[in-house]
Amino acid sequence: MKELISIHHVVKKDKKGQSILKGVSAKIFEGELITIIGPSGSGKSTFLSLINRMTDPDEGSLQFKEAPYLQMDVLKLRRKIGMVFQLPTMLPGTVRDNLKIGPSLLRKNLNEAEMDTLLEQVALPKSLKDQDARSLSGGQKQRVSLARTLANQPEILLLDEVTASLDPRSTEEIEDLIVELHKTQGKTILWVSHNLKQAKKVGQYTWVIADGKIMEQGKTFEVFEHPKNIATKEFIATSFEKAASNI
Ligand SMILES: Nc1ncnc2c1ncn2[C@@H]1O[C@H](COP(=O)(O)OP(=O)(O)OP(=O)(O)O)[C@@H](O)[C@H]1O
Ligand SMILES: [Mg+2]
Repeated sequence: MKELISIHHVVKKDKKGQSILKGVSAKIFEGELITIIGPSGSGKSTFLSLINRMTDPDEGSLQFKEAPYLQMDVLKLRRKIGMVFQLPTMLPGTVRDNLKIGPSLLRKNLNEAEMDTLLEQVALPKSLKDQDARSLSGGQKQRVSLARTLANQPEILLLDEVTASLDPRSTEEIEDLIVELHKTQGKTILWVSHNLKQAKKVGQYTWVIADGKIMEQGKTFEVFEHPKNIATKEFIATSFEKAASNI
């Protein structure tokens, strides 16, 4: 399998000099769907923001297809490595305006047929193109946000708690969409989720980030059913217990 991203001994500190990520090394191969789980504040979002180059490490380095991040054009890298966040932010204007924004920054025009394909990929009707994006439901906004990222034809998709603000039905629809994208287009996906049921259901591989380190990585089933690390075992057990007591 082709190696897309290589992460070497990355350390990221906060403004006070405390380490958020404490020496993380990992490799991401083409076509993998990896779910990332771990306690709140353990560094998951920070990890994704390094891969998308919203921030740079204090120590260590990252490579995309063997090219050092620091030698690559930031915009080009972000186009290849798209990110979707928990809260979809719609720009003023219609759904059409929102979809055009990414490609237009690269001086590319998204034509109507391309836009229709994107909407189809995220299971939104074409008729929505002329609607005010800010009037959409939460689930619809998250689909537009996903389509907006896909408009740049990224090779890697980073998802940070993308269903956390959605109702159960929209959550399931987004899960199905992303699994479909992975299946049909072979997209490489890194999906941070604190919904462990979701991480277990959609992941091929699962990484556990705790206390600024990758504590465990492996096939999703193995990580959930036979965690090697005691801390991972406890985290999974208590998270499922908490989720059960919330029902
Ligand atoms: N810009 C920042 N400045 C200072 N501290 C930060 C910054 N961003 C994150 N942190 C701190 O770094 C640690 C890791 O944060 P991060 O957001 O990566 O965790 P997370 O695993 O994504 O948590 P959650 O599950 O709650 O989203 C936290 O202690 C957080 O307070
Ligand atoms: Mg986070």
